[in-house]
Amino acid sequence: MKRSRDDGFAADLVAGMRCGLITLDRHGCVRALNESAREILKVDQETAVGQPAQRAFSAYPQLARLLAQAASMSTLPDRAELEIQTPAGEDRTLGFTMSRVVAEDGEVRGVALFFKDLTPIERQEQREQLQERLASLGAMAASLAHEIRNPLAALEVTTTLLRRKLPESGTCRDLADTLQDQVRRLSGTVNDSLEYVRPLQIHGTPCNLAELLDEALEVCTPDRIAPKVEVVRWYPQETRLLQVDAGRMRSALVNLIRNALESMGENAGVLRLSLDIPQDEAPEVGHAIIRVSDTGPGIPEDIQPRIFNPFYSTKPNGSGLGLAWTRKVVDAHDGFLDVHSTPKEGAVFTIRLPLSAATAVPELNPAGETLHETQDSSRRG
Ligand SMILES: Nc1ncnc2c1ncn2[C@@H]1O[C@H](COP(=O)(O)OP(=O)(O)OP(=O)(O)O)[C@@H](O)[C@H]1O
Ligand SMILES: [Mg+2]
Repeated sequence: MKRSRDDGFAADLVAGMRCGLITLDRHGCVRALNESAREILKVDQETAVGQPAQRAFSAYPQLARLLAQAASMSTLPDRAELEIQTPAGEDRTLGFTMSRVVAEDGEVRGVALFFKDLTPIERQEQREQLQERLASLGAMAASLAHEIRNPLAALEVTTTLLRRKLPESGTCRDLADTLQDQVRRLSGTVNDSLEYVRPLQIHGTPCNLAELLDEALEVCTPDRIAPKVEVVRWYPQETRLLQVDAGRMRSALVNLIRNALESMGENAGVLRLSLDIPQDEAPEVGHAIIRVSDTGPGIPEDIQPRIFNPFYSTKPNGSGLGLAWTRKVVDAHDGFLDVHSTPKEGAVFTIRLPLSAATAVPELNPAGETLHETQDSSRRG
């Protein structure tokens, strides 16, 4: 009697644990997985229990391999990390530890894997690191701008006066024209950089994100979309309005769409815009998800960590401020900007915006889009 009451307590304890728990029997078959594990891995209790770990977690090959090998390992890994990709294509980092389940007589009855999804912590850390870098960059830029702006303004005025004094044509006038162009360009760079490092004030109004995506696409058409690029939009039929700074978020989306189009250039490809606003998720935890993807050459792995840095560009005329600005705007909305790219297969940029900024009122999306792929041929250039 006492034993069964204890068993109930243990079961409740396991069910309520905030970290994921998977237990295997000594044959390597799944015995149980608690609610957190089911939530993180999106795996059903009914389909997993009784199955060999390799089959139950076949969607996560690394995890499946780890569990399948656990029985034969002499030392189990402790405090290790595992990178997995969800079936929806999201990268997640799991921190885990393993232990054997040993009976009183020393017989090994199975293995237990405890794990926690570290992805939100990692994202927060990345964001804090970037904010620290931006703060120091901001201080430096502000003092530099102070030193540069006044002489630059004087130079601009002097060049204009000089041009006026020169005859309308001739080598000297050409040289003065070049000088004026270059001074203006320098002025533009200084101003753009200042705009970027200045603290961002967000003025949120209830916005339909599908409309915002369409408007951003409009800014990029028709000249930028090559004839061979197909645009596919994938919006839910019903949406919730989100409290967003429309102008800033539109400019962030324009940057992502431009990059996607630039990556495909004149080649055939697909630009895919998608929006997912979960209707039944709690506002405190849920996110609206915007994806902008292309079928361009993708982003080489070694440069992926640098693409959000200000002034990082691989394009001959790129300022390298596009993604840095986009991330700044998304951060200011308490959201997350992520990239997933497989070289040669394209890139997917994902913006997650907290549903806590959503209004309760549902609204229909533009042109009654449905949850099917809609191919809008009028948008092809
Ligand atoms: N969709 C994409 N496919 C391939 N590479 C990309 C993509 N988006 C961004 N990149 C890479 O990231 C770099 C930085 O992008 P970012 O938008 O910040 O600057 P840029 O496009 O080079 O210049 P700017 O946007 O200021 O004109 C790019 O130069 C490119 O190397
Ligand atoms: Mg860009």
